[in-house]
Amino acid sequence: MSSSSSSSSQEAFLAIYKEIESELLASLQSLPALSTNLKQQLVDYYSVCLPYTVPGGKMTRGLTVVRGVQVLKQRELTPAEYKDAAILGWMVEWLQAVFLVADDIMDASITRRGQPCWYQVPNVTQDNAINDALILENMIYQTIRRHFKSHPSYIHILDLFIDTTFQTEVGQHIDTNGTPYADGKRAPLDLSRFTLDRYRGCVRYKTCYYSFYLSCALALAYCGYDPNESSGEDGKSGGASLYKKAEDICMILGEYFQIQDDVLDAFASPEVLGKIGTDIEDAKCSWLVCKALELVTEEQKKILEEHYGKHDPEGVQKVKDLYRELKLQELYGDYEEEQKKICDGLIAQIEPENFQELFKFLLGKIYKREK
Ligand code: FPP
Ligand code: MG
Repeated sequence: MSSSSSSSSQEAFLAIYKEIESELLASLQSLPALSTNLKQQLVDYYSVCLPYTVPGGKMTRGLTVVRGVQVLKQRELTPAEYKDAAILGWMVEWLQAVFLVADDIMDASITRRGQPCWYQVPNVTQDNAINDALILENMIYQTIRRHFKSHPSYIHILDLFIDTTFQTEVGQHIDTNGTPYADGKRAPLDLSRFTLDRYRGCVRYKTCYYSFYLSCALALAYCGYDPNESSGEDGKSGGASLYKKAEDICMILGEYFQIQDDVLDAFASPEVLGKIGTDIEDAKCSWLVCKALELVTEEQKKILEEHYGKHDPEGVQKVKDLYRELKLQELYGDYEEEQKKICDGLIAQIEPENFQELFKFLLGKIYKREK
């Protein structure tokens, strides 16, 4: 296991981003049958788009792939293995960029990672940003082909990206339709739709697979574990069960992470969070509204009926005041402590023991996070 500090491991990881970016820009530069002038316009545009949308996050998803490969190999990685793991890690970060560029349009968000959302950049606009999300997505497949075409797990790696993208899109559909559309407008708010059942289904699909499971599964795939076979590389047994163990714990960690996201959306300072919450305005099926609905009196429920789902700062404040009155932050604090204990217990039961490291790393990244 590498003993390098987290800032130097972030630097090494970012150096691989630069390499991938250069390759992608070079491939735009060499597109056939386009004038030098047109190719230069493309390169100029994506030289801004890529660094704006892809790096700049916490990079946990990407670094998890590197950590996963280290944990599974149980030794320091060779430079070639490190590079492979980091490229796969960046592909998860690229997928996240695809989702965030599109999600910010859908959620009418203002800022992301401490800067205007990509579609809000004056020379970008929504028209470009939609296409950019699709171009970013395609770049994942170009890069995987460039680096892994002859790797034994190539098809499996592709399948993981295809399946995870679909799962996340299904989750996004559920998320967007907490209040469905009717005749081109949002139907009237129906608070009875905001149940913990809806919440859990939505979160599993929109967050858990791409934010937690994908990175772990990529590490397993890269190390030669086949999800359909009961043995991995070096004849180690239990390949299939490792995926299952990873999925089970990732669903729990992912739900905990999204509940945090929902609480931070309402209560964290935008300067620290890097984004301005929109869940109340967008009538999201947030953990906070689900919990509030379990606790409200008839009188308090009227506040939600009147103000939830409206782009009105005073109404949003009234909803937040109600959350405070219901002591939802305290309730969340209790949930977080309990969740931490549950996760510690579940992780301690995972075998082989070295695999536990990966999930301890993830839990360490999310416990009491502030952004
Ligand atoms: C963020 O949730 C949601 C996602 C990261 C998933 C978004 C998925 C899509 C937009 C599917 C589109 C796919 C393609 C290929 C274009 P959130 O809104 O709760 O998080 P936030 O608070 O960070 O905005
Ligand atoms: Mg959003």
